[in-house]
Amino acid sequence: MGAPRDAYRRLSVVVLAAGVLLLGTSAARTGPPLDGETCPDYGDIVDRESMQGFDIERYQGIWYSAAVHEPSEPAACRCDQYNWTITSPETYSNRLTASCGRFPLDLSIVGKMSSDPANPGDTLEGMPPAFPLIPLQILYVEPNGTSQEYTACIRYACKKDYWVAAPPFYYPLFESVQIFTREQVASQATLNRLVQKAVDIGIVEDVSKLRNLTYSGCSAPSEIQGFDEVVYT
Ligand SMILES: *[C@@H]1O[C@H](CO)[C@@H](O)[C@H](O)[C@H]1NC(C)=O
Ligand SMILES: *[C@@H]1O[C@H](CO)[C@@H](O)[C@H](O)[C@H]1NC(C)=O
Ligand SMILES: *[C@@H]1O[C@H](CO)[C@@H](O)[C@H](O)[C@H]1NC(C)=O
Repeated sequence: MGAPRDAYRRLSVVVLAAGVLLLGTSAARTGPPLDGETCPDYGDIVDRESMQGFDIERYQGIWYSAAVHEPSEPAACRCDQYNWTITSPETYSNRLTASCGRFPLDLSIVGKMSSDPANPGDTLEGMPPAFPLIPLQILYVEPNGTSQEYTACIRYACKKDYWVAAPPFYYPLFESVQIFTREQVASQATLNRLVQKAVDIGIVEDVSKLRNLTYSGCSAPSEIQGFDEVVYT
């Protein structure tokens, strides 16, 4: 019966990874794109037109970061790849693999579907217990005429008074902006369009605070043995 020990080991890996992830971030933090005072309501920032009839099944699959503002990830990390998968009617997983300096990163991020049928993009996400679930919302999606999946999206996380079990422990206001595409390298035109959309919906004031990722020299993410889903209730 090694289950609790395995669970503990997995938890340790998560906490360690979270600690490593956050240690290098203070200097890299660029501050919140918004006013730094409060989190906006989902209804005030969601792009109603693109999210009309949103089908979360079409959101599944691999996403690459085109531009991000991500306080929990050191600027040394590159080659970010998210694998967003529905795991139950109420939950999803969003596994992140990346390369941070010489270290591979492999995080089992988990999420909860929206409880509001009118706003299916209003999801929660985190890495419990180190990072309790917080609103991480899908605000905008672009369909792809030739495929079922959405090909671009904008996500936004915001949490006031966010305590985490890893340095720096406390964020007066945690804010993250994620502009994702299905292609590793988005065209400049696509990047411009998506960044402008993030400005238009009001989650980015200063575009220089977005980090534009490039994927040159990225290899396939290495697998970390024994590292899998974090179970939460
Ligand atoms: C993404 O995750 C799903 C579910 O775990 C898995 O079946 C799929 O192979 C993964 N895709 C990649 C490219 O890793
Ligand atoms: C749209 O889908 C097709 C078919 O899956 C794919 O080849 C193409 O790269 C996608 N376009 C974008 C912009 O992702
Ligand atoms: C990132 O790309 C956007 C859109 O092309 C641009 O406006 C912005 O200045 C770029 N940011 C940086 C830090 O280079």
